[in-house]
Amino acid sequence: MKILFIGFGNVAKEMSRIFIQRDLYPALDLESRVVGIFTGRHGGLEKKDGIDLIKVLDELRLSNRLTADERELSSLTPLEAAKTLDYDVLVELSALSIEDRGEPAASHIRTALERGKSVASANKGPVSFRYKELKELAEKNGALYLFESAVMDGAPLFNFCSRCMKGATVNGFSGILNGTTNFILSHMEKGGSLEEGIKMAQEAGIAEADPSMDVDGWDPSAKAAALVNVLMGGNITPLDVERDGIRAVTPETAQDAVKRGMRLKLLCRGWKDGNNVHASVRVEEVNRDDIFCLISHYGSAVRIESDLMHPNIIVQDCPDLLDTAYGVIEDLITIRDSLGLI
Ligand SMILES: NC(=O)c1ccc[n+]([C@@H]2O[C@H](COP(=O)([O-])OP(=O)(O)OC[C@H]3O[C@@H](n4cnc5c(N)ncnc54)[C@H](OP(=O)(O)O)[C@@H]3O)[C@@H](O)[C@H]2O)c1
Repeated sequence: MKILFIGFGNVAKEMSRIFIQRDLYPALDLESRVVGIFTGRHGGLEKKDGIDLIKVLDELRLSNRLTADERELSSLTPLEAAKTLDYDVLVELSALSIEDRGEPAASHIRTALERGKSVASANKGPVSFRYKELKELAEKNGALYLFESAVMDGAPLFNFCSRCMKGATVNGFSGILNGTTNFILSHMEKGGSLEEGIKMAQEAGIAEADPSMDVDGWDPSAKAAALVNVLMGGNITPLDVERDGIRAVTPETAQDAVKRGMRLKLLCRGWKDGNNVHASVRVEEVNRDDIFCLISHYGSAVRIESDLMHPNIIVQDCPDLLDTAYGVIEDLITIRDSLGLI
């Protein structure tokens, strides 16, 4: 499988580490060749017979550049790479952009799908702003657009609904879908500050590049919109989600809730109202016999309500980059098996 990476940050580097250290994962059966790596500020590399990932990771770690020899850098932009290079699957891992409504990631994905190339992405921008259009484009061109890691860091949420809930209608969901704010709220219960919590999450590689995406509720709004669109047939964007962040929470309010047997959680909800579908992201008090009360640190959980099952709850216990990277790799394996790629 020939892979083109657009975006080569934490997640792409962890995927590369897994590719390099395949021996550590004996059941992982995926032959891949990375033919392009394109970034925002670090330029791009292209090589038909495969880029040396060990060299690139070393160069990034030691000198924060893709290559020691600038002449090796490609003259293509990421969009031109998606449009012209010879690859099987685009792995879109550029940063989340709310302000630009999922762009330029949505254009990278659209360009690949228009060429009949499948896409695996952890970027929730395109799936929350452009899902309907991209899904239809994929179907029209015989390609797949998969994004398991966009919500809950690779825990099988979309796969669970599509593979295990055939024939059921999802009527609503609720959940803790942002590990960074959940970690910060847990940290505040111990008297820590918002700023310390952000710094710790950034050091763990879990926080979004722009802390406002987490703290002001944009990342969970994008996830809520993605769930509404993918699972409930809605057509909303993160801008339509009733959104709250955690800036108004202080260590004192977090500790006061704990004293009363409650915990503060940033909860995402999606629900139907006649033919309309709505979503919200709000700080709510959760009492101690609610499963969401048990979710600490970077954990996340979602409760899915449907017409043919009682609520199912998926819990992700403190995921890290391994989970997100594996979610994208699982998408790659699905693409390979569905399309008969080698
Ligand atoms: N980290 C996680 O645990 C996690 C979990 C779930 C989902 N995600 C999603 O996965 C994606 C990647 O996350 P990450 O943590 O790897 O991000 P990251 O470390 O911030 O890396 C982002 C990458 O995207 C590149 N980029 C930014 N703007 C670009 C543009 N306009 N065109 C092409 N490349 C561009 C950056 O290049 P430069 O640095 O050179 O500008 C960088 O290589 C994001 O959409 C994120 O929301 C991440």
